Amino acid sequence: MTRRTFIAGNWKMNLNLASATELAAGLRKATDGITNLDIAVCPTNVYIQPVAEILKGSNVGVGAQNAYFEPKGAFTGETSMEMLKDIGCKYVILGHSERRHILHESSEFINLKVHAALAAGLIPILCVGELLAERKAGTTDLVNRRQFEGSVSGVSSNDMKKIVIAYEPVWAIGTGEVATPEQAEEVHVVLRAIIAERYNKEVAESVRIQYGGSVKADNAKAILAKPNVDGALVGGASLKVEDFMGIIKGA
Ligand code: PGA
Repeated sequence: MTRRTFIAGNWKMNLNLASATELAAGLRKATDGITNLDIAVCPTNVYIQPVAEILKGSNVGVGAQNAYFEPKGAFTGETSMEMLKDIGCKYVILGHSERRHILHESSEFINLKVHAALAAGLIPILCVGELLAERKAGTTDLVNRRQFEGSVSGVSSNDMKKIVIAYEPVWAIGTGEVATPEQAEEVHVVLRAIIAERYNKEVAESVRIQYGGSVKADNAKAILAKPNVDGALVGGASLKVEDFMGIIKGA
């Protein structure tokens, strides 16, 4: 089973209208002709629409960084999956560690969002990952299993195949301390085994698992060369055309 490589940029709460649209236009140009892998960028909600306009018909898809699970109603400050779909989103990042740890989102809450995203026709990029203390305590696999299982509770085999997993060790996010290719591969193998156990081997072999955490042009190639690493979720290095393209070219 060959899984199509998927490189996604998580712009987080960065850029402004001018720099976000400039980056989108630069990526559109730079990715022209690159059709052998999936590419996406996830701007902050207010810049999704202008970025999606620029990237329409290009090789770069657009995703959101978060959304609420209810389709509409009295939920002040929230954005629904349907709204994101309406303005051109294809993907939505769910359960990012910054949302789990800063905004205190639980796997139960993320699970509601996973179901809502699938119902709205969005592809969830579901993040899991352990803290440094959890790795040191030897609970890496347990933490990732709990986060994964809690977040996909009630998801059918068919829907599971649509979900993209992003393994992002929290200690590697924005720290410059990237996991070694071996550390990434090790966890990806465990995650794939958990998917096989919960679903079946066919589902496990088809789910794409991205690595995220300080991925840069100079370390991407070695990580992406690992058989169970099917792409990358990139934060800091997705904010400049050259940096992001360096990663895409490494893939
Ligand atoms: P980073 O962020 O590449 O800046 O470490 C990755 C992420 O949080 O998705």
